[in-house]
Amino acid sequence: MQATMQKGRFISFEGSEGCGKSTQIRILLDLLEKKGIAVLLTREPGGTVVGERIRDLLQYTPEAKGMTAEAELLLFAASRAQLVREVIAPALQQGQWVIADRFLDSTTVYQGLGRGLDQQAVAHINDFAVGEVKPDLTLLLDMDAQQGHARAKAVSEAEGKFDRMEDQELDFFERVRQGYLNLADIENERISIVDASKSIEEVSASIEGIIKKRYHEFSA
Ligand code: TMP
Repeated sequence: MQATMQKGRFISFEGSEGCGKSTQIRILLDLLEKKGIAVLLTREPGGTVVGERIRDLLQYTPEAKGMTAEAELLLFAASRAQLVREVIAPALQQGQWVIADRFLDSTTVYQGLGRGLDQQAVAHINDFAVGEVKPDLTLLLDMDAQQGHARAKAVSEAEGKFDRMEDQELDFFERVRQGYLNLADIENERISIVDASKSIEEVSASIEGIIKKRYHEFSA
Protein backbone atom coordinates (compact mmCIF):
# COMPACT_ATOMS: atom_id res chain seq x y z
CA MET A 1 0.00 0.00 0.00
CA GLN A 2 1.34 3.42 -0.95
CA ALA A 3 1.33 5.88 1.98
CA THR A 4 -0.36 9.07 0.74
CA MET A 5 -0.35 12.84 1.25
CA GLN A 6 -1.12 14.34 4.63
CA LYS A 7 -3.46 17.07 5.92
CA GLY A 8 -2.39 17.18 9.59
CA ARG A 9 0.82 18.44 11.18
CA PHE A 10 3.67 16.01 11.52
CA ILE A 11 6.49 16.74 13.98
CA SER A 12 9.33 14.35 14.76
CA PHE A 13 11.75 14.46 17.68
CA GLU A 14 15.30 13.27 17.15
CA GLY A 15 18.53 13.13 19.14
CA SER A 16 20.97 10.67 20.62
CA GLU A 17 20.40 8.75 23.84
CA GLY A 18 19.90 10.75 27.01
CA CYS A 19 18.99 14.00 25.20
CA GLY A 20 15.71 14.38 27.14
CA LYS A 21 13.37 13.64 24.22
CA SER A 22 10.71 11.89 26.29
CA THR A 23 10.49 14.70 28.84
CA GLN A 24 10.19 17.36 26.16
CA ILE A 25 7.60 15.39 24.22
CA ARG A 26 5.50 15.10 27.36
CA ILE A 27 5.69 18.86 27.96
CA LEU A 28 4.71 19.62 24.35
CA LEU A 29 1.80 17.17 24.48
CA ASP A 30 0.46 18.95 27.58
CA LEU A 31 0.73 22.30 25.86
CA LEU A 32 -1.05 21.10 22.73
CA GLU A 33 -3.75 19.48 24.80
CA LYS A 34 -4.35 22.76 26.64
CA LYS A 35 -4.85 24.42 23.29
CA GLY A 36 -7.43 21.81 22.38
CA ILE A 37 -5.24 20.26 19.68
CA ALA A 38 -5.68 16.49 19.36
CA VAL A 39 -2.33 14.76 19.08
CA LEU A 40 -1.26 11.25 18.25
CA LEU A 41 2.06 10.20 19.78
CA THR A 42 4.12 7.45 18.19
CA ARG A 43 7.43 5.90 19.12
CA GLU A 44 10.00 3.96 17.17
CA PRO A 45 10.75 1.22 16.90
CA GLY A 46 7.26 0.12 17.92
CA GLY A 47 3.81 1.69 17.99
CA THR A 48 2.00 -1.27 16.39
CA VAL A 49 1.74 -4.95 17.31
CA VAL A 50 4.27 -5.80 14.60
CA GLY A 51 6.52 -2.90 15.59
CA GLU A 52 6.53 -3.72 19.31
CA ARG A 53 7.71 -7.26 18.55
CA ILE A 54 10.45 -5.82 16.37
CA ARG A 55 11.35 -3.37 19.17
CA ASP A 56 11.87 -6.24 21.60
CA LEU A 57 14.18 -7.98 19.19
CA LEU A 58 16.13 -4.84 18.32
CA GLN A 59 16.55 -3.53 21.83
CA TYR A 60 15.90 -5.92 24.65
CA THR A 61 16.88 -9.39 23.43
CA PRO A 62 20.42 -10.20 24.62
CA GLU A 63 20.53 -13.22 22.25
CA ALA A 64 20.21 -10.77 19.34
CA LYS A 65 23.67 -9.36 20.07
CA GLY A 66 25.03 -10.89 16.87
CA MET A 67 22.48 -9.15 14.62
CA THR A 68 24.11 -7.79 11.47
CA ALA A 69 23.89 -4.08 10.67
CA GLU A 70 21.98 -4.93 7.49
CA ALA A 71 19.35 -6.95 9.37
CA GLU A 72 19.08 -4.14 11.91
CA LEU A 73 18.45 -1.57 9.17
CA LEU A 74 15.70 -3.67 7.61
CA LEU A 75 14.02 -4.30 10.95
CA PHE A 76 13.90 -0.60 11.82
CA ALA A 77 12.51 0.07 8.34
CA ALA A 78 9.94 -2.72 8.71
CA SER A 79 8.70 -1.31 12.00
CA ARG A 80 8.34 2.13 10.40
CA ALA A 81 6.63 0.84 7.26
CA GLN A 82 3.94 -0.73 9.44
CA LEU A 83 3.58 2.34 11.67
CA VAL A 84 3.25 4.74 8.74
CA ARG A 85 0.49 2.78 7.02
CA GLU A 86 -1.41 1.55 10.06
CA VAL A 87 -1.22 4.64 12.26
CA ILE A 88 0.50 7.80 11.01
CA ALA A 89 -0.92 8.25 7.48
CA PRO A 90 -4.57 7.69 8.55
CA ALA A 91 -4.18 10.17 11.44
CA LEU A 92 -2.65 12.82 9.18
CA GLN A 93 -5.37 12.30 6.63
CA GLN A 94 -7.94 13.05 9.30
CA GLY A 95 -6.12 16.31 10.01
CA GLN A 96 -4.66 15.19 13.34
CA TRP A 97 -1.30 16.35 14.69
CA VAL A 98 1.22 13.54 14.93
CA ILE A 99 4.29 13.67 17.15
CA ALA A 100 6.84 10.98 16.44
CA ASP A 101 9.43 10.00 19.02
CA ARG A 102 12.04 9.25 16.32
CA PHE A 103 11.42 8.76 12.60
CA LEU A 104 13.50 8.21 9.49
CA ASP A 105 16.41 10.50 10.48
CA SER A 106 17.26 7.99 13.23
CA THR A 107 17.88 5.36 10.57
CA THR A 108 19.91 7.76 8.44
CA VAL A 109 22.29 8.52 11.30
CA TYR A 110 22.31 5.37 13.47
CA GLN A 111 22.48 2.82 10.65
CA GLY A 112 24.08 5.02 7.98
CA LEU A 113 26.71 6.76 10.12
CA GLY A 114 26.80 4.88 13.43
CA ARG A 115 26.95 1.47 11.74
CA GLY A 116 28.63 2.80 8.60
CA LEU A 117 26.20 1.24 6.10
CA ASP A 118 26.03 2.55 2.54
CA GLN A 119 24.19 5.85 2.85
CA GLN A 120 22.50 5.62 -0.54
CA ALA A 121 21.12 2.21 0.33
CA VAL A 122 19.86 3.54 3.66
CA ALA A 123 18.17 6.50 1.93
CA HIS A 124 16.54 4.18 -0.59
CA ILE A 125 15.20 1.83 2.09
CA ASN A 126 13.99 4.81 4.15
CA ASP A 127 12.06 6.14 1.15
CA PHE A 128 10.54 2.75 0.45
CA ALA A 129 9.43 2.42 4.08
CA VAL A 130 7.77 5.83 4.46
CA GLY A 131 6.47 6.65 0.97
CA GLU A 132 5.38 10.29 0.91
CA VAL A 133 4.86 10.56 4.64
CA LYS A 134 7.60 12.83 5.98
CA PRO A 135 7.68 15.18 8.97
CA ASP A 136 7.11 18.85 8.21
CA LEU A 137 9.14 19.79 11.28
CA THR A 138 11.90 17.89 13.07
CA LEU A 139 13.21 19.00 16.45
CA LEU A 140 16.77 17.83 16.94
CA LEU A 141 17.71 17.78 20.63
CA ASP A 142 21.45 18.16 20.49
CA MET A 143 23.86 17.47 23.32
CA ASP A 144 27.36 16.20 24.04
CA ALA A 145 27.50 12.49 23.14
CA GLN A 146 29.38 11.39 26.24
CA GLN A 147 27.06 13.23 28.61
CA GLY A 148 23.93 11.91 26.90
CA HIS A 149 25.17 8.34 26.74
CA ALA A 150 26.15 8.31 30.42
CA ARG A 151 22.68 9.64 31.31
CA ALA A 152 20.89 6.99 29.25
CA LYS A 153 23.05 4.16 30.62
CA ALA A 154 22.37 5.24 34.21
CA VAL A 155 18.60 5.11 33.54
CA SER A 156 18.76 1.64 31.94
CA GLU A 157 20.90 0.32 34.78
CA ALA A 158 18.56 1.75 37.41
CA GLU A 159 15.66 0.03 35.61
CA GLY A 160 17.71 -3.19 35.35
CA LYS A 161 17.23 -3.21 31.55
CA PHE A 162 19.67 -4.44 28.92
CA ASP A 163 19.57 -2.18 25.85
CA ARG A 164 21.36 -3.53 22.78
CA MET A 165 21.44 -0.12 21.08
CA GLU A 166 23.03 1.58 24.09
CA ASP A 167 25.70 -1.09 24.29
CA GLN A 168 28.09 0.70 21.86
CA GLU A 169 31.39 2.52 22.20
CA LEU A 170 31.35 6.28 22.64
CA ASP A 171 32.63 6.95 19.10
CA PHE A 172 29.39 5.38 17.77
CA PHE A 173 27.37 8.07 19.57
CA GLU A 174 29.80 10.75 18.43
CA ARG A 175 29.20 9.72 14.80
CA VAL A 176 25.46 9.77 15.48
CA ARG A 177 25.61 13.29 16.91
CA GLN A 178 27.73 14.59 14.04
CA GLY A 179 25.45 12.85 11.55
CA TYR A 180 22.42 14.64 12.99
CA LEU A 181 24.18 18.01 12.89
CA ASN A 182 25.21 17.50 9.26
CA LEU A 183 21.69 16.47 8.34
CA ALA A 184 20.29 19.57 10.05
CA ASP A 185 22.69 21.66 8.01
CA ILE A 186 21.52 20.13 4.74
CA GLU A 187 17.80 20.08 5.61
CA ASN A 188 17.70 23.35 7.53
CA GLU A 189 14.13 24.15 6.44
CA ARG A 190 12.76 21.05 8.14
CA ILE A 191 15.19 20.39 11.01
CA SER A 192 15.55 22.83 13.93
CA ILE A 193 18.40 22.28 16.36
CA VAL A 194 17.59 22.73 20.05
CA ASP A 195 20.38 22.93 22.62
CA ALA A 196 19.43 20.05 24.93
CA SER A 197 22.21 20.74 27.43
CA LYS A 198 20.13 23.59 28.90
CA SER A 199 17.56 23.23 31.70
CA ILE A 200 14.27 21.42 31.02
CA GLU A 201 12.42 24.77 31.15
CA GLU A 202 14.80 26.48 28.75
CA VAL A 203 14.61 23.60 26.28
CA SER A 204 10.80 23.50 26.39
CA ALA A 205 10.63 27.28 25.92
CA SER A 206 12.82 26.98 22.78
CA ILE A 207 10.57 24.23 21.44
CA GLU A 208 7.44 26.27 22.12
CA GLY A 209 9.00 29.23 20.30
CA ILE A 210 9.77 27.12 17.23
CA ILE A 211 6.26 25.64 17.11
CA LYS A 212 4.62 29.05 17.58
CA LYS A 213 6.56 30.48 14.67
CA ARG A 214 5.70 27.58 12.42
CA TYR A 215 2.02 26.87 13.14
CA HIS A 216 -0.59 29.63 13.33
CA GLU A 217 -3.19 27.39 15.06
CA PHE A 218 -0.75 26.90 17.92
CA SER A 219 -0.33 30.65 18.50
CA ALA A 220 -4.06 31.37 18.18
P1 TMP B 1 14.75 5.22 22.40
O1 TMP B 1 13.45 4.52 22.47
O2 TMP B 1 15.40 5.45 23.71
O3 TMP B 1 14.69 6.44 21.56
O4 TMP B 1 15.74 4.20 21.73
C1 TMP B 1 15.64 3.75 20.45
C2 TMP B 1 16.99 3.23 20.07
O5 TMP B 1 16.95 2.71 18.73
C3 TMP B 1 18.06 4.31 20.06
O6 TMP B 1 19.30 3.76 20.44
C4 TMP B 1 18.14 4.71 18.60
C5 TMP B 1 17.86 3.41 17.91
N1 TMP B 1 17.29 3.56 16.58
C6 TMP B 1 18.06 3.26 15.46
O7 TMP B 1 19.21 2.87 15.59
N2 TMP B 1 17.49 3.39 14.23
C7 TMP B 1 16.20 3.80 14.06
O8 TMP B 1 15.73 3.90 12.92
C8 TMP B 1 15.41 4.10 15.24
C9 TMP B 1 14.00 4.54 15.09
C10 TMP B 1 15.99 3.96 16.46
